[in-house]
Amino acid sequence: MMIEARGLVRTFKTKRGPVQAVQGVDLDVADGEIVGFLGPNGAGKTTTMRMLATLITPTSGTATVAGCDLAKDPVGVRRRIGYVPQSGSTLPEAVAGDEVVDHARLYGVSKAKAIADGQRLFEELDLPGLWRRQCKTLSGGQRRRLDIVMGLIHDPKLIFLDEPTTGLDPQARANLWEHIRGLRARGATIFLTTHYLDEADALCDRILVIDHGRIVGAGAPEALKQQVSGDSVRLSLADRTDDRANAEAGRTHATDAVIRIVRELDGATSVEAVADGVNFRIPRGGSVLPGLLRQIDAGGIELDGVEVHRPTLDDVFLTMTGRSLRDDSPAPADEPEKQKEVVA
Ligand SMILES: Nc1ncnc2c1ncn2[C@@H]1O[C@H](COP(=O)(O)OP(=O)(O)O)[C@@H](O)[C@H]1O
Ligand SMILES: [Mg+2]
Repeated sequence: MMIEARGLVRTFKTKRGPVQAVQGVDLDVADGEIVGFLGPNGAGKTTTMRMLATLITPTSGTATVAGCDLAKDPVGVRRRIGYVPQSGSTLPEAVAGDEVVDHARLYGVSKAKAIADGQRLFEELDLPGLWRRQCKTLSGGQRRRLDIVMGLIHDPKLIFLDEPTTGLDPQARANLWEHIRGLRARGATIFLTTHYLDEADALCDRILVIDHGRIVGAGAPEALKQQVSGDSVRLSLADRTDDRANAEAGRTHATDAVIRIVRELDGATSVEAVADGVNFRIPRGGSVLPGLLRQIDAGGIELDGVEVHRPTLDDVFLTMTGRSLRDDSPAPADEPEKQKEVVA
């Protein structure tokens, strides 16, 4: 295990009383994993990460990080990890290469080695020709990659990234994901925080969902999604006559028949009739569909369409916390009204 933490708690004293930022977190990160710590702002992600990186002491709890005991050997932990803070760590006026070399020397790396390794990392992280540039002249994506170079310069085996892509445009984010995968390919273990569902989904081998200082779910993205609700399936029934009254009568009959068939399926839940068909949820919808469609066909019922939607991580978050994490989505009031189906 690269990280093994048990019962981590951190309380902050504030003027308005104590804030329980982290309330008993257990976590395990295996060697070579990319693990994402997913949660809304204020959930306790940064506080947990800062404890694991020895920057603040836990109020209680224990952890082993990169093979060293957090409480007994914080210096050992520090030497083996890289930490890239949420806010970045470079000074705007400083020259990029100088920042990297200074940072490396804090870890006892010689100047010559720092320059050689730093320039190699600049190539690898797609920062060619920027060694002598002032940090403030770099783009957001370049600055974030420079932060990562700083976190990598002493060749750590465990890298903490706090919200590595917050504030980057979609292309710069996708690009940074590639670089993070590249670090893992070179043998590093990555522990990152994010409040982006798509980032957790696309980048992470495993996700820990945190809310109000507690872990509320953990697993591979796919497993979490399946665990929550299964796929949602929509069967649209054809109406086979031009006469509206007959069509509706026929459809009601067909709908009842389809509902009976679906209810027989193993694991089908939330079976309901809708305007022009039947909706339900079922684990691994794609694999039960062929048999289901044959049965419907054998019953002489005609379908207009079939849709299968995989559950999203937002479904997971909603189920675990009762709230949505889609912070970029418009407020419900702004949402265009769902178009009503009109039966002509
Ligand atoms: N130094 C601090 N002093 C007081 N409260 C803090 C401090 N750092 C964090 N907090 C509080 O702890 C909670 C968790 O914060 P944080 O770990 O930064 O969350 P996240 O990184 O998930 O957004 C928040 O309520 C925050 O206001
Ligand atoms: Mg944070």
